[in-house]
Amino acid sequence: MCKHFILIWWSQLFLTVFIVLNVDVTFVGVFVKFRMDDVCRNGSANNDDANIISSSNTPYDEKERAHFNRIVSAFRAYRAFSLLRIVNTEKYFLSLPVNHRALLKSFRDNLDVIRTCIEKNNNIIKLIVKDVAYMFENVSHTLTCSTNQEEKGGVHQSVPSMNDQDKVQVTLKQFVRDWSEEGAGERRTCYQPIIDEILAHFPAHTCAPHDVKVLVPGAGLGRLAFEIARRGYTCQGNEFSLFMLFASNFVLNK
Ligand SMILES: C[S@@+](CC[C@H](N)C(=O)[O-])C[C@H]1O[C@@H](n2cnc3c(N)ncnc32)[C@H](O)[C@@H]1O
Repeated sequence: MCKHFILIWWSQLFLTVFIVLNVDVTFVGVFVKFRMDDVCRNGSANNDDANIISSSNTPYDEKERAHFNRIVSAFRAYRAFSLLRIVNTEKYFLSLPVNHRALLKSFRDNLDVIRTCIEKNNNIIKLIVKDVAYMFENVSHTLTCSTNQEEKGGVHQSVPSMNDQDKVQVTLKQFVRDWSEEGAGERRTCYQPIIDEILAHFPAHTCAPHDVKVLVPGAGLGRLAFEIARRGYTCQGNEFSLFMLFASNFVLNK
């Protein structure tokens, strides 16, 4: 049985990107539509993550590409930034008097655990950004950072801001809530009441679920939209953050 759910990425300019995910057990296929005429009518973006992508070459498109590359750079810089934070923490720890350090016996062991976690997260990030340039079928992106640079921990052409780094961290944390076993309790608290309401209002014995269209605004990593689509409803999620879209593309389509 094939169900559909649609992720829409739109900016506050009313640019709309549709990512249609054919749901069976796994998700396959991505396609994107742009309403560039809407973009032209509505002027420039006023939200950081709401920039748009196109395959043409206006100054506006250049901005969109730069934004796209900036988000990719932020993901790629995750490892270097996170390890640097650990180095700084360790330096601070070592600057403490010996008797104070003695009170924090497992502190450095914990830093080693965190280092291991960073490496594991980074393996996931490599998969998230792999082929992301081809994520939208009608758009071509030339990424400015090579994977080799990232693997060597080298300098990036576009240096990500702390704000972008924080967004990468938030995206990773959201994976735990939306897609891990550890997040099941939180999902039950925040998503289940919504799912229960939908089931109560549109039970399968009174209507054909696929005729019921559900919108999930600001769908994040797509778990709620996935759960609604899994129950047979036609579900549309919208999301304009490329952090979220890259990550949900990974979890739903790869
Ligand atoms: C508080 S988060 C919630 C995400 C998700 N629903 C969840 O529960 O994990 C709000 C999300 O809405 C997205 N968002 C906010 N305004 C939006 C807009 N105008 N269009 C599309 N997405 C938007 C943000 O990027 C963010 O991912």
